[in-house]
Amino acid sequence: MCSLTRYFLTSLLLAITTEAFSSLAGTSSRSRSALNLAVDSLDGKGKSVTVVGGSGFVGSRVCQILADKGATVTSLSKSGAAPKWAQDAPWSKDISWKAIDLLTSTESELDRCLGKPDAVISCVGAIGTDPDILLKGNGQANVNAFESAQRAGVKSVAYVSVSSEVSACKENWLPEFFGSYFDGKDMAEAAAKAVCEDVTIVRPTFIYGGDYFGLLPPRVNTAYGSFIDQLLSIGLIQAVADITPGLIKVALRPPVLAESVAGACVDGVLNPQRSGVRVLDSAKDINEASGQAPATGVTDAIEWSIKTAGEIAEWVQKKAKEIEAANAKK
Ligand SMILES: NC(=O)c1ccc[n+]([C@@H]2O[C@H](COP(=O)([O-])OP(=O)(O)OC[C@H]3O[C@@H](n4cnc5c(N)ncnc54)[C@H](OP(=O)(O)O)[C@@H]3O)[C@@H](O)[C@H]2O)c1
Repeated sequence: MCSLTRYFLTSLLLAITTEAFSSLAGTSSRSRSALNLAVDSLDGKGKSVTVVGGSGFVGSRVCQILADKGATVTSLSKSGAAPKWAQDAPWSKDISWKAIDLLTSTESELDRCLGKPDAVISCVGAIGTDPDILLKGNGQANVNAFESAQRAGVKSVAYVSVSSEVSACKENWLPEFFGSYFDGKDMAEAAAKAVCEDVTIVRPTFIYGGDYFGLLPPRVNTAYGSFIDQLLSIGLIQAVADITPGLIKVALRPPVLAESVAGACVDGVLNPQRSGVRVLDSAKDINEASGQAPATGVTDAIEWSIKTAGEIAEWVQKKAKEIEAANAKK
């Protein structure tokens, strides 16, 4: 192979790899949108909702959707501030961001912060390796919030829990300390159901979204998550997941977009057609409730690759002609 061809092939490969990585790390134009059709049709005007854990990954998206629907929104969290990604967003100015620690505040402090809203959505949770933190952060913190909601006479609640297929792994697939995480989730679900009759429990496996990757807590950005989501949503893969055990099954289930989890919570408390206890225990259930369109990450990646390969081929041809012309002049 002549050195000119080798140079072009190496440049081509490098360009494709670099561009593909940055494209996956960013949010592609066709990746799932922040708001969606089912939630778009809901009206929050005249409704007040307190979002417990409103500064979090999912909670902040709940606040965004509710604000967009015209609801009056209060967020409770330890920090009492909007997360970085939302700090300059116009909707963020419409949220009343309040700081409170659900585990150390008194009942009256918590009641004052929570107010007398029509609905409460809790996205509070904790991860880590300390069983006490896992139990309190997922269990007692939510119990305290839902008891306050009950005292306030709230008519509707939603809670982000965890998939029963993940919980089923606690016996044989996960370290013992992690049992406290699931015990906490059970406590929280029971407390949510005791508040009122209109209850939505949303149980995702893994949630993706935003524009960055992280390890603790684990985060995967929208473009990459959408790629995995579309890939794992293929019928054959789901048929295999159905018959595989434990964590292998969980790993084969499609993850859920954070906006979809948030949308399902909002649908739970704003949709007048909803009532009773509703448990959304799969990505399919959650996406149906929020009206989230199917993921397009694989299609986006293929379209991008074809477009980029075409652009690179054009560039290579142009450069080859320039070099040929320069050589001819010599
Ligand atoms: N992310 C996933 O892949 C995933 C998967 C399955 C289930 N879930 C569940 O989904 C829910 C939301 O997850 P996420 O990723 O959005 O969580 P997150 O980003 O860690 O947000 C947790 C929120 O809870 C607040 N919080 C925690 N402890 C508190 C306390 N003692 N007092 C007041 N506020 C407290 C945090 O406030 P500060 O930020 O101020 O500390 C934050 O707003 C959790 O219940 C989680 O277990 C998540």
